[in-house]
Amino acid sequence: MAKFYITTPLYYVNDKPHIGHAFATITADVMARWHRLNGEKIFFLTGTDEHGEKNQKAAEAAGITPQQYVDGLADVYKSVWKAMNISYDGFVRTSSPGHEAAAAHFVELMNKNGDIYKGEYEGWYCVPDETFFTELQLVNGKCPDCGREVKKVKEESYFFRLGKYQQRLLDHYSENPEFLSPELRSDEIKNRVKSGLKDLSITRASIKWGVPFPLDKSRTVYVWVEALVGYLSGIGWPSKDADVVWPADTHLVGKEINWFHSVIWPAMLMSAGLPVPKRIFAHGWWTIDGKKMSKSVGNIVDPVEMVKKYSADPFRYFLIREKPISEDGDFSEKAMITRINGELVADLGNLVSRTVTLTSRFNGPIAGKPELESHLRLEKITEKMERFDPFGALEEIWSFIRASNKYVNEKSPWKLDGAELSNALYNLLEACRIISIMVSPFMPETSEKLNAQLGVKAGTLKDCRFMEWKGNVVKGEHLFRKME
Ligand code: MSP
Repeated sequence: MAKFYITTPLYYVNDKPHIGHAFATITADVMARWHRLNGEKIFFLTGTDEHGEKNQKAAEAAGITPQQYVDGLADVYKSVWKAMNISYDGFVRTSSPGHEAAAAHFVELMNKNGDIYKGEYEGWYCVPDETFFTELQLVNGKCPDCGREVKKVKEESYFFRLGKYQQRLLDHYSENPEFLSPELRSDEIKNRVKSGLKDLSITRASIKWGVPFPLDKSRTVYVWVEALVGYLSGIGWPSKDADVVWPADTHLVGKEINWFHSVIWPAMLMSAGLPVPKRIFAHGWWTIDGKKMSKSVGNIVDPVEMVKKYSADPFRYFLIREKPISEDGDFSEKAMITRINGELVADLGNLVSRTVTLTSRFNGPIAGKPELESHLRLEKITEKMERFDPFGALEEIWSFIRASNKYVNEKSPWKLDGAELSNALYNLLEACRIISIMVSPFMPETSEKLNAQLGVKAGTLKDCRFMEWKGNVVKGEHLFRKME
C-alpha cells in the first residue's frame, strides 16, 4: 500500500492562529484527505513549536512556568483545528519529553558524524521570529522578515558544519527536481546555496527554555534546529515505528521558512544519516490590502470568527479557491461572499437541489446512458492534486459542476417524462454522487450532507465514474446559505 506523510509547519504557540496558519493547515488537510480517498496509508502531522526566548519571557511576566504557559496555548491550536475539521493523525509538541529525547539523539548522530564543533557566534537575533541574521541581512538595522528590532548576540556556541553539505545539497536538488517545489521558488534556493553556506550556530547559552544541548547541558539547542526534528519525533522516531512513515512525502511551508526546510533540514538529515523528505512545498502569503497578515502589522483575521460567520466548509473552500497556492493573495470577506453565493449556492447548491427535487417527484426506475461522463476529467484533477495544486483541481471540479448545470438547462427535465426523464435523472444523480466524492477533501461536511440526500455511502476515488444508480434520494435542506 502506498503511503503519504504530510506535515504543516509546527506553529509558534504564542501567536493566536490566523488565516495564514489556517490556510496551511487546511491545505495539508485537503491533500491528506485526497490521498486517503485514493486508498493510501496517510500520516498527517501538525503541532506546535514551544521553546524559545519569547515564551520564556511571557511565562516570567505571567508568573508561571514556561511549561504551564505553553500547555494552555497548545490547546488553543487543537480547538481551532477542530472547528475547521482538520483530520490530523499526529500533533507534536516540542516541549514533550518524547520530542526532547529525539532532538537530543539527533544532535548526537550529527556529532558522531563529526559535524559539530565549538566556536564563537556573533550576530543579530530577532526574538519574535527566533531567527539569527548576519549584519548584511538586516534591513535598516531591523529584522529583514518582520521589520522589528533585533539584538546583538556574541557568545561561545556550537556549530553545525552546514558548509560541508553545499555540494551534496546542490546534487540532491538537480537529481530530485520535485524537492524544491514549486519550481518558481527553486532558483532562489539554488542560487543562495551556490553562493556559499556558512556553518550554523546551533546552541544558545542564555536561553533556558529549550532542549538541553547533549554535549554541554549548560546550553540549549537552537529552537529552529530542534523544531525541525519534530517532523521525526511526531511519528515516534527514533522508534522503529517511524521507519514506515519516514521520509516525509511533503513538508508544506510558507515561503519565508523555505530556507530552513530546503537547506538546513536536508543537511541535518544527511549528517544524521537519515533519508531526506521527497518534497518541500513553499506556499504564498495571505495579505490584507496588499500587506502580509501578521501580528506585528496588526491586520490579523481570526479564522474562528470566519468559521462562526460562514461555517467551516465555505471558509475552507474559499481559502483554497481564491488564489493559486504558491502565489500571494488578498483576503477579504467581500471576495468570500462572492464565491459563496456564486460557486457554492448557485453552482453546486442549485445543481443538487434541482436534482434532488426532480428525483423526488419521479417514481419510476432510474437508468440511462452516461451522457455527462465526457465532461468529467478525473485524470486532470488527480494530476493537479499530485502536483500539489488544489486550486487547479477545484477549477476542474467546478467545470464539471457547471457542465452538469448546463445539462439540466438544456434537457429541461421538468418537460420530460418516461425513459427520457429517467435518463436525465440518472446522469444528474451520478454526477452529484461523483461530485460529492471529489469535493469531500475540500468540504467534508458538505459531502456528508450531500450523500445523505442522495442516499449513498461515502465513496473513494475508484467510485468516481458513471455506474448503475443505486442511491435512494431523501430531499433535504439547501447545502449552503446565501450570504449578504
Ligand atoms: N515555528 C516555525 C515553524 C517551525 S517548523 C519546524 C514558524 N511558525 S509560525 O507560526 O510563525 O509560522 C507558521 C507558518 O505560518 C509559516 O509557514 C508561515 O509562512 C505561515 N504564515 C504566517 N503568516 C502567513 C500569512 N499571512 N499567509 C500565509 N501563511 C503565513 O515559522
